[in-house]
Amino acid sequence: MNRSEVIKNTLEFVKKTLANAEGGHDWFHIQRVYNNAKLIAKGEKADLFIVELGALLHDIADYKFHNGDESRGPQLASEFLNTQKVSEEEVAHVIKIIENVSFKGGKEKKNFYSTELKIVQDADRLDALGAIGIARTFNYGGFKGRALYDPEIEPNLNMTKEEYKASTAPTINHFYEKLLLLKDLMNTETGRKIAEERHRFMESYLQQFYSEWDGLA
Ligand code: NI
Repeated sequence: MNRSEVIKNTLEFVKKTLANAEGGHDWFHIQRVYNNAKLIAKGEKADLFIVELGALLHDIADYKFHNGDESRGPQLASEFLNTQKVSEEEVAHVIKIIENVSFKGGKEKKNFYSTELKIVQDADRLDALGAIGIARTFNYGGFKGRALYDPEIEPNLNMTKEEYKASTAPTINHFYEKLLLLKDLMNTETGRKIAEERHRFMESYLQQFYSEWDGLA
């Protein structure tokens, strides 16, 4: 089994596992993140095999859909990788990427860093921005039964990880609590450039949203 076979098997495993996933966290999200990650990796010195596995497996069992359980994704991924020709060291690195890739509120501290994590994280963050990011955010809000917007409920910028995970705030608040913060958190030059364009698009989207809300346009 060579590396391209491992990637092929991983693609199949992820597709099958996410067959009934929510629209913003389904196989197509993984495909976009995978493609973004490969693009970003071109500008970095990184182990492409780790980047590809990390991107493909990063949402294999997202805590948001498993009652907040953060251990299930890493566990499922390592069980799968142990059936493939992947060294112990490589499995450990991919698991660290899965554990550290996601955003859980502005106060959450990280304690693992690698170039490969930075690339997968940027690729995942890009998919939270721009037109796709907006679509995914409202889809997830609908999935959770949240209001679109409520002018009475202010965004909370200092949530702990637990508060962030338990939040029931209107979807528009999520722009301020996460999406608009991402461009300044990008790790790579390629990621930052794309993030800035998508950020501007979201700002103009919000302007239009409020003017329609107020009946001005
Ligand atoms: Ni993701």
